[in-house]
Formats: sequence, structure tokens, C-alpha cells
Amino acid sequence: MILVLEIYIKKLKNNNLILKEFLDNAFNLKSHLMEYLSIRECDLEGFLANAKMNLANSHPGDTLNEVSDFYTEIVGDRHVADLAAWHITSSDYIADTLKLQQRFSRGLVLDFGGGIGTHALANAMSSKVEHIFFVDINQTNRNFVKYRAKKLGVEKKITFCKTIQDTQLLKFDTIVCLDVLEHLADPASQIITFNEIMDSNSIALLNWYFYKGDNNEYPFHIDDSQIIEKFFETLQSNFLEVFHPIHITTRAYKKVR
Ligand SMILES: C[S@@+](CC[C@H](N)C(=O)[O-])C[C@H]1O[C@@H](n2cnc3c(N)ncnc32)[C@H](O)[C@@H]1O
Repeated sequence: MILVLEIYIKKLKNNNLILKEFLDNAFNLKSHLMEYLSIRECDLEGFLANAKMNLANSHPGDTLNEVSDFYTEIVGDRHVADLAAWHITSSDYIADTLKLQQRFSRGLVLDFGGGIGTHALANAMSSKVEHIFFVDINQTNRNFVKYRAKKLGVEKKITFCKTIQDTQLLKFDTIVCLDVLEHLADPASQIITFNEIMDSNSIALLNWYFYKGDNNEYPFHIDDSQIIEKFFETLQSNFLEVFHPIHITTRAYKKVR
């Protein structure tokens, strides 16, 4: 068993093979879902097909006290389902974000709001990455990714934390924060924290989608114009964009000196 895992990891050290493995089976995502959530194979497609709607319907709207309560108290395994459906149906897009990671990731990596772990697992398979701190406020997500990391034989390279403070706010070489900023009450203060834990050579990979959707599919996304303006002012005064040639909305940044 250990030998099989070692061969698997050695094989995946090659970037192209990592991408191929993701495009082929999303790092065994379906079998991980079935095993971890005890879903029968015949129920899996229905589980995934309804995931987006189930997540949106679980949002309590304006009655929510704190934005973060949705992720800690309400979503349960519905976010795992939603993210899994998204990573499977939009695998070309996710693969492009993995290509971007491969271009920039090195050393000590922070994956903030890491979800179902696609990016952390891919980084863990890279020989350029020493260690990853996977931060996610949702316990189901953390436990699921811990389980997946073990299955893929990369668990030694990942530390799991609920908050960014739990990482001891080390200096990170790479910060990955994809599709998370629009879920936070104050995205501007989050990127200030990122800035403080970067040094002059660090790179942050960031994207955002401050929009609730044409039909309120994303009721949990922040779309307040003042919050968004403060975010862009903070971004533009503290970070400098680093060009990359991949046609996606995710941007690479270093600190403004
Ligand atoms: C849309 S998912 C993105 C997941 C992953 N980065 C990806 O690209 O697939 C947003 C993630 O952010 C996490 N999250 C939300 N608020 C958070 C917070 N305050 N601190 C840490 N994680 C948070 C959620 O639990 C969820 O896993």
C-alpha cells in the first residue's frame, strides 16, 4: 500500500501529470466523496446536480448575524457538494488556476479558504512547495481535505487550521486565496493581513466575484459598493500586479515596496 502511494506521488511530481490527473478525475474526487460522505454511486450524480441550489437555498438572507456564521454553523457538507460539482463541471477553468499555481507556488504556502482542497493537494504534489497551511473556517471542509490528503499520501505536507491566526502568522512565500474574498465581511482587512505575512519576494494569487448572481445564485457573496471600493483602494495601494499569460481572472501580486 505504502509503495503504491509512493509511486503515485513520484509520478505526480511532474506538473503536466498533476494537471492530467486533475482533468482525468479531480484527484479521485468522486471516490473520495462517496467514501467520506457514504454516498452510493447511483446517488452521486443527483447529489452533485442539486448541490449549487441546495447551498443557495440554505442561506438565511438578512437574518444572518455574522457573515462567517453561514460557513461555521449552517453549510455543513453542502459546501463540499457545491465545490465538488463546480470543480468537476468547470474542470478546464480550475485546471487553469492550477497552471497559475504551478507558475508561482514555492516554499511555504498559505491556502486561505481552501474548500475541498484541489489547490492545496496539487501544491502538496509539487516538489517546489515545502509545506502548506490550509485554512478554512468550515470544519467539514477541513476534515474532508485531511481525509483526501491521507488518501493521496501527501498529508505530511499540509497543516490544517481554522483561522489565519492559527498559522502563527508565519511569513509565506506564496498565498493562494481563490474565490474566497467575496465571502468575507471585510475583504480589505483580509488582504492587509496577507500583505503583513508576505516578504518582498512573496506572491499572492487572488480573485474575487463581488456579485450575488443574475438570479441570486450566490446570496452569500458580498456586493456592498462601499466594501468593494475599500477593497480596491486597499489592493491598489498595497500590491503590485505581476504579469502572467494565463487567460483567467485570477491575478498574481507582490507587495508594493
Ligand atoms: C467558494 S469556496 C472556495 C474554495 C477554494 N478556494 C476553491 O477555489 O475551490 C470559499 C471557501 O472559503 C471558506 N471561508 C469562508 N469564510 C472564511 C473565513 N472567514 N476564513 C476562512 N475560510 C473561509 C469557505 O468555508 C469555503 O471553503
